[in-house]
Amino acid sequence: MRLDGKSALITGSARGIGRAFAEAYIREGATVAIADINLERAKTTASELGASAYAVEMDVTNQASIDAAIAAVVEKAGGLDILVNNAALFDLAPIVEITRESFDRLFTINVSGTLFTLQSAARQMIAQGRGGKIINMASQAGRRGEALVAVYCATKAAVISLTQSAGLDLIKHGINVNAIAPGVVDGEHWDGVDALFAKYENRPRGEKKRLVGAEVPFGRMGTAEDLTGMAVFLASAESNYVVSQTYNVDGGNWMS
Ligand SMILES: NC(=O)c1ccc[n+]([C@@H]2O[C@H](COP(=O)([O-])OP(=O)(O)OC[C@H]3O[C@@H](n4cnc5c(N)ncnc54)[C@H](O)[C@@H]3O)[C@@H](O)[C@H]2O)c1
Repeated sequence: MRLDGKSALITGSARGIGRAFAEAYIREGATVAIADINLERAKTTASELGASAYAVEMDVTNQASIDAAIAAVVEKAGGLDILVNNAALFDLAPIVEITRESFDRLFTINVSGTLFTLQSAARQMIAQGRGGKIINMASQAGRRGEALVAVYCATKAAVISLTQSAGLDLIKHGINVNAIAPGVVDGEHWDGVDALFAKYENRPRGEKKRLVGAEVPFGRMGTAEDLTGMAVFLASAESNYVVSQTYNVDGGNWMS
Protein backbone atom coordinates (compact mmCIF):
# COMPACT_ATOMS: atom_id res chain seq x y z
CA MET A 1 0.00 0.00 0.00
CA ARG A 2 1.34 3.40 -0.99
CA LEU A 3 -0.06 5.51 1.88
CA ASP A 4 0.31 3.06 4.72
CA GLY A 5 -0.05 4.74 8.11
CA LYS A 6 -0.45 8.24 6.64
CA SER A 7 -2.88 10.80 8.06
CA ALA A 8 -4.84 12.79 5.47
CA LEU A 9 -7.30 15.68 5.63
CA ILE A 10 -9.47 16.35 2.58
CA THR A 11 -11.57 19.53 2.60
CA GLY A 12 -15.03 19.29 1.09
CA SER A 13 -14.92 15.50 1.06
CA ALA A 14 -18.47 14.81 2.21
CA ARG A 15 -19.32 14.25 -1.47
CA GLY A 16 -17.98 14.31 -5.01
CA ILE A 17 -14.29 14.28 -5.91
CA GLY A 18 -13.10 14.67 -2.30
CA ARG A 19 -15.09 11.63 -1.24
CA ALA A 20 -13.58 9.55 -4.06
CA PHE A 21 -10.09 10.67 -3.00
CA ALA A 22 -10.87 9.63 0.59
CA GLU A 23 -11.90 6.16 -0.60
CA ALA A 24 -8.72 5.84 -2.66
CA TYR A 25 -6.47 7.00 0.19
CA ILE A 26 -8.09 4.53 2.57
CA ARG A 27 -7.55 1.71 0.04
CA GLU A 28 -3.85 2.69 0.09
CA GLY A 29 -3.66 2.48 3.89
CA ALA A 30 -4.30 6.07 5.04
CA THR A 31 -6.59 7.43 7.72
CA VAL A 32 -8.73 10.26 6.33
CA ALA A 33 -10.52 13.22 7.91
CA ILE A 34 -13.72 13.91 5.99
CA ALA A 35 -13.60 17.67 6.59
CA ASP A 36 -16.63 19.58 5.38
CA ILE A 37 -18.87 22.52 6.21
CA ASN A 38 -21.75 20.04 5.99
CA LEU A 39 -21.04 18.01 9.13
CA GLU A 40 -24.08 15.74 8.85
CA ARG A 41 -23.12 14.65 5.35
CA ALA A 42 -19.47 14.29 6.40
CA LYS A 43 -20.57 11.95 9.19
CA THR A 44 -22.66 9.86 6.81
CA THR A 45 -19.78 9.66 4.33
CA ALA A 46 -17.28 8.73 7.04
CA SER A 47 -19.52 5.97 8.34
CA GLU A 48 -19.96 4.63 4.79
CA LEU A 49 -16.19 4.62 4.21
CA GLY A 50 -15.45 2.65 7.38
CA ALA A 51 -13.13 2.79 10.37
CA SER A 52 -10.29 4.63 8.60
CA ALA A 53 -12.52 7.67 7.96
CA TYR A 54 -13.81 10.20 10.49
CA ALA A 55 -15.82 13.40 10.12
CA VAL A 56 -14.48 16.83 11.03
CA GLU A 57 -16.52 20.02 10.83
CA MET A 58 -14.57 22.60 8.85
CA ASP A 59 -15.34 25.90 7.16
CA VAL A 60 -12.35 26.90 5.04
CA THR A 61 -13.46 30.55 5.16
CA ASN A 62 -12.99 30.71 8.93
CA GLN A 63 -9.47 30.70 10.39
CA ALA A 64 -10.56 29.35 13.78
CA SER A 65 -12.38 26.51 12.03
CA ILE A 66 -9.32 25.72 9.88
CA ASP A 67 -7.01 25.61 12.91
CA ALA A 68 -9.51 23.55 14.91
CA ALA A 69 -9.81 21.01 12.09
CA ILE A 70 -6.04 20.60 11.83
CA ALA A 71 -5.85 20.23 15.63
CA ALA A 72 -8.63 17.62 15.54
CA VAL A 73 -6.68 15.60 12.96
CA VAL A 74 -3.50 15.77 15.04
CA GLU A 75 -5.45 14.69 18.11
CA LYS A 76 -7.18 11.83 16.30
CA ALA A 77 -4.40 10.52 14.05
CA GLY A 78 -1.21 11.71 15.77
CA GLY A 79 -0.22 14.12 13.00
CA LEU A 80 -0.97 15.33 9.48
CA ASP A 81 0.85 14.00 6.40
CA ILE A 82 -1.46 14.84 3.48
CA LEU A 83 -3.76 17.81 2.84
CA VAL A 84 -6.08 18.01 -0.15
CA ASN A 85 -7.49 21.52 -0.65
CA ASN A 86 -10.63 20.39 -2.44
CA ALA A 87 -13.53 22.51 -1.12
CA ALA A 88 -14.69 25.11 -3.64
CA LEU A 89 -17.76 26.86 -4.99
CA PHE A 90 -18.79 27.59 -8.58
CA ASP A 91 -20.88 30.42 -10.00
CA LEU A 92 -21.41 31.96 -13.40
CA ALA A 93 -22.73 35.17 -14.87
CA PRO A 94 -22.01 37.44 -17.83
CA ILE A 95 -19.38 40.09 -17.03
CA VAL A 96 -21.99 42.86 -16.73
CA GLU A 97 -24.01 40.85 -14.18
CA ILE A 98 -21.20 39.69 -11.84
CA THR A 99 -21.93 40.80 -8.28
CA ARG A 100 -19.40 41.71 -5.60
CA GLU A 101 -21.14 39.21 -3.34
CA SER A 102 -20.45 36.34 -5.78
CA PHE A 103 -16.86 37.52 -6.37
CA ASP A 104 -16.14 37.74 -2.63
CA ARG A 105 -17.80 34.39 -1.87
CA LEU A 106 -15.83 32.50 -4.54
CA PHE A 107 -12.49 34.13 -3.74
CA THR A 108 -12.99 33.60 0.00
CA ILE A 109 -13.62 29.87 -0.39
CA ASN A 110 -11.57 28.94 -3.46
CA VAL A 111 -8.52 31.17 -2.92
CA SER A 112 -8.31 32.37 0.71
CA GLY A 113 -9.63 29.01 1.87
CA THR A 114 -6.96 27.18 -0.10
CA LEU A 115 -4.11 29.46 1.03
CA PHE A 116 -4.92 29.59 4.73
CA THR A 117 -5.71 25.89 5.00
CA LEU A 118 -2.41 25.20 3.22
CA GLN A 119 -0.67 27.57 5.65
CA SER A 120 -2.13 25.95 8.75
CA ALA A 121 -1.29 22.45 7.46
CA ALA A 122 2.23 23.53 6.49
CA ARG A 123 2.86 24.92 9.98
CA GLN A 124 1.82 21.58 11.45
CA MET A 125 3.92 19.60 8.95
CA ILE A 126 6.99 21.77 9.58
CA ALA A 127 6.59 21.30 13.34
CA GLN A 128 6.38 17.53 12.85
CA GLY A 129 9.60 17.56 10.81
CA ARG A 130 8.69 14.66 8.54
CA GLY A 131 7.65 16.51 5.38
CA GLY A 132 4.22 16.23 3.83
CA LYS A 133 2.05 16.40 0.73
CA ILE A 134 -0.31 19.22 -0.19
CA ILE A 135 -2.58 18.85 -3.21
CA ASN A 136 -4.70 21.75 -4.42
CA MET A 137 -7.70 21.32 -6.68
CA ALA A 138 -7.35 23.65 -9.64
CA SER A 139 -9.32 23.27 -12.89
CA GLN A 140 -9.06 23.61 -16.63
CA ALA A 141 -10.97 26.81 -15.85
CA GLY A 142 -7.77 28.18 -14.29
CA ARG A 143 -5.90 27.79 -17.57
CA ARG A 144 -8.21 29.86 -19.78
CA GLY A 145 -11.02 32.36 -19.78
CA GLU A 146 -14.65 31.36 -20.27
CA ALA A 147 -17.21 33.97 -21.27
CA LEU A 148 -19.67 33.26 -18.46
CA VAL A 149 -17.24 31.95 -15.86
CA ALA A 150 -14.84 34.87 -15.24
CA VAL A 151 -14.76 34.74 -11.45
CA TYR A 152 -14.44 30.96 -11.02
CA CYS A 153 -11.75 30.88 -13.75
CA ALA A 154 -9.84 33.64 -11.93
CA THR A 155 -10.03 31.75 -8.61
CA LYS A 156 -8.62 28.61 -10.21
CA ALA A 157 -5.84 30.58 -11.95
CA ALA A 158 -4.99 31.89 -8.48
CA VAL A 159 -4.89 28.31 -7.15
CA ILE A 160 -2.40 27.36 -9.89
CA SER A 161 -0.26 30.38 -8.98
CA LEU A 162 -0.40 29.72 -5.23
CA THR A 163 0.62 26.13 -5.93
CA GLN A 164 3.72 27.37 -7.77
CA SER A 165 4.80 29.77 -4.99
CA ALA A 166 3.94 27.52 -2.04
CA GLY A 167 5.67 24.58 -3.69
CA LEU A 168 8.87 26.59 -4.10
CA ASP A 169 8.79 27.85 -0.51
CA LEU A 170 7.88 24.61 1.25
CA ILE A 171 10.02 22.04 -0.56
CA LYS A 172 12.92 22.92 1.76
CA HIS A 173 10.81 21.34 4.52
CA GLY A 174 10.18 18.24 2.43
CA ILE A 175 6.62 19.38 1.74
CA ASN A 176 5.50 18.88 -1.85
CA VAL A 177 2.78 21.24 -3.08
CA ASN A 178 1.15 20.29 -6.39
CA ALA A 179 -2.27 20.56 -7.98
CA ILE A 180 -4.73 18.68 -10.16
CA ALA A 181 -6.67 20.41 -12.95
CA PRO A 182 -9.74 18.34 -13.82
CA GLY A 183 -11.84 19.03 -16.90
CA VAL A 184 -15.55 18.28 -16.55
CA VAL A 185 -16.39 15.76 -13.84
CA ASP A 186 -19.89 14.35 -13.53
CA GLY A 187 -21.63 14.54 -10.16
CA GLU A 188 -23.74 16.80 -7.97
CA HIS A 189 -21.41 19.75 -8.62
CA TRP A 190 -21.98 19.57 -12.37
CA ASP A 191 -25.74 19.19 -11.87
CA GLY A 192 -25.57 22.68 -10.36
CA VAL A 193 -23.34 23.97 -13.16
CA ASP A 194 -25.77 22.56 -15.74
CA ALA A 195 -28.66 24.37 -14.05
CA LEU A 196 -26.78 27.69 -14.22
CA PHE A 197 -25.97 27.22 -17.91
CA ALA A 198 -29.61 26.31 -18.55
CA LYS A 199 -30.56 29.68 -17.06
CA TYR A 200 -27.98 31.86 -18.80
CA GLU A 201 -27.85 30.08 -22.18
CA ASN A 202 -31.57 29.35 -22.27
CA ARG A 203 -31.13 25.58 -22.61
CA PRO A 204 -33.16 22.62 -21.36
CA ARG A 205 -31.70 21.04 -18.20
CA GLY A 206 -29.14 18.36 -19.02
CA GLU A 207 -28.22 19.70 -22.46
CA LYS A 208 -25.02 21.51 -21.42
CA LYS A 209 -23.80 18.42 -19.60
CA ARG A 210 -24.40 16.28 -22.70
CA LEU A 211 -22.60 18.79 -24.93
CA VAL A 212 -19.51 19.20 -22.74
CA GLY A 213 -19.22 15.43 -22.39
CA ALA A 214 -19.39 14.94 -26.15
CA GLU A 215 -16.57 17.47 -26.65
CA VAL A 216 -14.08 15.64 -24.41
CA PRO A 217 -11.52 13.84 -26.64
CA PHE A 218 -11.77 10.76 -24.40
CA GLY A 219 -15.45 10.60 -25.36
CA ARG A 220 -17.22 11.34 -22.09
CA MET A 221 -17.21 13.48 -18.96
CA GLY A 222 -14.81 12.44 -16.25
CA THR A 223 -15.78 10.64 -13.08
CA ALA A 224 -14.32 11.37 -9.66
CA GLU A 225 -12.62 7.96 -9.85
CA ASP A 226 -10.76 9.05 -13.01
CA LEU A 227 -8.81 11.50 -10.80
CA THR A 228 -7.85 9.17 -7.98
CA GLY A 229 -4.70 7.78 -9.63
CA MET A 230 -3.17 11.27 -9.76
CA ALA A 231 -4.39 12.06 -6.24
CA VAL A 232 -2.69 8.95 -4.84
CA PHE A 233 0.51 9.58 -6.83
CA LEU A 234 0.78 13.17 -5.54
CA ALA A 235 0.16 11.98 -1.95
CA SER A 236 2.74 9.19 -2.14
CA ALA A 237 6.53 9.02 -1.97
CA GLU A 238 6.55 8.43 -5.76
CA SER A 239 6.07 12.19 -6.21
CA ASN A 240 8.82 13.35 -3.83
CA TYR A 241 10.74 15.10 -6.65
CA VAL A 242 7.61 16.77 -8.11
CA VAL A 243 7.33 20.42 -7.06
CA SER A 244 4.81 23.21 -7.85
CA GLN A 245 3.13 21.38 -10.74
CA THR A 246 -0.50 21.40 -11.87
CA TYR A 247 -1.48 18.24 -13.75
CA ASN A 248 -4.36 18.11 -16.20
CA VAL A 249 -6.49 15.00 -15.66
CA ASP A 250 -9.24 15.76 -18.13
CA GLY A 251 -9.55 13.19 -20.90
CA GLY A 252 -7.65 15.54 -23.22
CA ASN A 253 -10.10 18.40 -22.81
CA TRP A 254 -7.60 21.18 -22.20
CA MET A 255 -5.27 20.00 -24.98
CA SER A 256 -8.13 20.11 -27.48
N1 LIG B 1 -16.74 18.67 -10.86
C1 LIG B 1 -16.00 19.25 -11.82
O1 LIG B 1 -16.35 19.18 -13.02
C2 LIG B 1 -14.72 19.95 -11.48
C3 LIG B 1 -13.90 20.38 -12.54
C4 LIG B 1 -12.72 21.05 -12.25
C5 LIG B 1 -12.36 21.29 -10.93
N2 LIG B 1 -13.18 20.86 -9.92
C6 LIG B 1 -12.76 21.14 -8.54
O2 LIG B 1 -12.69 19.93 -7.80
C7 LIG B 1 -13.03 20.18 -6.44
C8 LIG B 1 -14.17 19.26 -6.00
O3 LIG B 1 -15.26 19.42 -6.86
P1 LIG B 1 -16.61 18.60 -6.70
O4 LIG B 1 -17.22 18.49 -8.04
O5 LIG B 1 -16.40 17.35 -5.91
O6 LIG B 1 -17.46 19.66 -5.80
P2 LIG B 1 -18.74 19.45 -4.90
O7 LIG B 1 -19.52 20.73 -5.01
O8 LIG B 1 -19.45 18.18 -5.25
O9 LIG B 1 -18.17 19.30 -3.42
C9 LIG B 1 -17.67 20.39 -2.72
C10 LIG B 1 -17.72 20.09 -1.23
O10 LIG B 1 -17.16 21.23 -0.55
C11 LIG B 1 -17.93 21.50 0.59
N3 LIG B 1 -17.77 22.91 0.97
C12 LIG B 1 -18.34 24.00 0.39
N4 LIG B 1 -17.97 25.11 1.03
C13 LIG B 1 -17.12 24.72 2.02
C14 LIG B 1 -16.40 25.43 3.01
N5 LIG B 1 -16.50 26.77 3.14
N6 LIG B 1 -15.63 24.73 3.87
C15 LIG B 1 -15.54 23.38 3.77
N7 LIG B 1 -16.21 22.66 2.85
C16 LIG B 1 -16.99 23.33 1.99
C17 LIG B 1 -19.36 21.15 0.17
O11 LIG B 1 -20.19 20.91 1.33
C18 LIG B 1 -19.13 19.89 -0.67
O12 LIG B 1 -19.17 18.71 0.13
C19 LIG B 1 -13.37 21.68 -6.37
O13 LIG B 1 -12.20 22.40 -6.00
C20 LIG B 1 -13.75 22.02 -7.79
O14 LIG B 1 -13.57 23.40 -8.10
C21 LIG B 1 -14.34 20.20 -10.16
